[in-house]
Amino acid sequence: MLEYDRRGLYTGDLLQKSDLPDQQGLEKAIDDLQDRFDSGELGFADLPDTDPEPITRWAEQKLREEWTDQVVIGIGGSSLGVRAILKSARSENLRGLRTHFAENLDPETVDRLFASLDPKTTLVVVITKSGTTIETMSQFWLAREIIEKAVGAAEAGRHFVAITDPERGELRKMVDQYGWDDFEVPPNVGGRFSVLTAVGLVPLALAGYPIKELLSGARKARDQSKTPKEAVNFWGVCAAEHVALADKGFDQLVMMTYSDRLEGLVDWFAQLWGESLGKAVNRKGEKVHVGITPIKAVGVIDQHSQVQLYMEGPKNKHISFLEVQSFDRDRKIPSSPPMPEALQHLQGKDLSEIFAAELEGTRSALRDAGRPTSSWRFQRIDAESVGAFLFSWQMITAVAGELLDINAFDQPGVELGKKIAHGLLGREDHAALADKVRASEGGDGQWRWSIK
Ligand code: PA5
Repeated sequence: MLEYDRRGLYTGDLLQKSDLPDQQGLEKAIDDLQDRFDSGELGFADLPDTDPEPITRWAEQKLREEWTDQVVIGIGGSSLGVRAILKSARSENLRGLRTHFAENLDPETVDRLFASLDPKTTLVVVITKSGTTIETMSQFWLAREIIEKAVGAAEAGRHFVAITDPERGELRKMVDQYGWDDFEVPPNVGGRFSVLTAVGLVPLALAGYPIKELLSGARKARDQSKTPKEAVNFWGVCAAEHVALADKGFDQLVMMTYSDRLEGLVDWFAQLWGESLGKAVNRKGEKVHVGITPIKAVGVIDQHSQVQLYMEGPKNKHISFLEVQSFDRDRKIPSSPPMPEALQHLQGKDLSEIFAAELEGTRSALRDAGRPTSSWRFQRIDAESVGAFLFSWQMITAVAGELLDINAFDQPGVELGKKIAHGLLGREDHAALADKVRASEGGDGQWRWSIK
C-alpha cells in the first residue's frame, strides 16, 4: 500500500549507520514516547482505533437534509489535514457536500467565497481547538451574520457545527449557550496531530469521503510494529536518519510530490514537521534553536524551477519524493502523425511512463550530485494509503522530537505575533506590546524607499 525507500540516504559518504544513535538510544526514545501514550498524556496514537460509525451516521442524516455545501472554517491543524485528504480524493467519488475552506483572512478571498454560497443550503463547520483563533473566529462571526440574515435567528442554529475542546475556549461556551451540533477535540491531541479526530472526520464524512478506510490505513501503519521495540526498526530509524542528516548539514527537507493529488499532503507535512521540531530550547531549558526546514516541491513543475538549486546550490537539502505506482487515469501520446525526430521516442508512451522517467531522472541526478534522496511510494492513492502516510509522519515527527530532546507538541514561537496582533486591534491586556510596535515604527524615513 505504501513503501518508504531510503537507499538514497546511504549512497557515497552521505550517511553511515554509525551516524545514527545506537540501538539503546533509539529504544529509549521509543520507550519514553510509549510511556507518554500509556499515561494518556499523548492521545494521537490511539486515534486509528476510533469507531467511525457515530460520525458516519450523523453525516448520513445531514446528507438526507437540504444541505448542498459546507464551509470549513479553521486554520493550521484545524484545516490542513481535511484539505489535504480531500485533494487526494477523486472528486467523482465524493458524493457528499461541496466543500469550501475559509482559512486565510485575505479580504478578497473571504468576500468572494461568502458571496458565492447560498446561505440557505450551506452548513458552516467551525473548527478551532482553542476556540480563540483570530482568523477562525472572525470568519465565523461573518458567516453567522450572513446565515442569520438569510434564514432568521431562530433557524440559524441548524446551520452550525462546532468542533472544539470539550471544556475550554470561547467557542465551547457558545455551543453550550446556542446548542449547535458539536464534536470534541480530545484535550490530549494537539492541532497538527488531530486529523484523525472529529477535526478531520466530520467534514470528511460530510464530503462523502470513506473515513473508515482512512482510519484502517492509519491502523495498519501503526500495527505493522507489534511492540514499541519493533517500532524502533521503522519509526525510530527513520526519525534518526532525518536528525542525523540535519546534524551533517542537510537540515532542509524537500518533499517533492510527483502527483498533484498528493500536493496537500506536503502542505500538511510542512506544518507538522516545521511547527513540531522548530524549537528554541530543549527539555533541559538550554538554548538549542533546532529544526529541519520543510520545503514543498511539485514534480515535474519544479524540475523547471527549483531543481537547479537542489542540484548545484548549498549541500543542505534532503529530497524526499512522493511517488505513485498506479495512477487511476492515464493518456497515451498518439503514435501518429509522427512527431519531430528528436521526440519520436515519446510516441505511444503513457503519460505515467513519461512522468516516472522524469522522476527517476531527477532522483538519479540528485544522487549523482551527492544529495540525499528518499522515496515514499503509494501503490495507488486511496484512503488507506493516505491514512498510513499521515500516521507514519505523525510518529516519525514525535520520535524526532524525542531524539532532539525538545517538546514537539507545543508552539510557543507563534504566541508573540498573535498577542501583538490582538494588542494592535485593541485588546487591553496586550496594549503594551502594541505600543512598543507603534513606537518602533517612527524613524526619519532613511530606511524606506518607495516608487511614486
Ligand atoms: O498545531 C497546532 O496546534 C496549530 O497549528 C493549530 O492547529 C492552529 O493554530 C489552529 O488552532 P485552533 O485549532 O486552536 O484554532
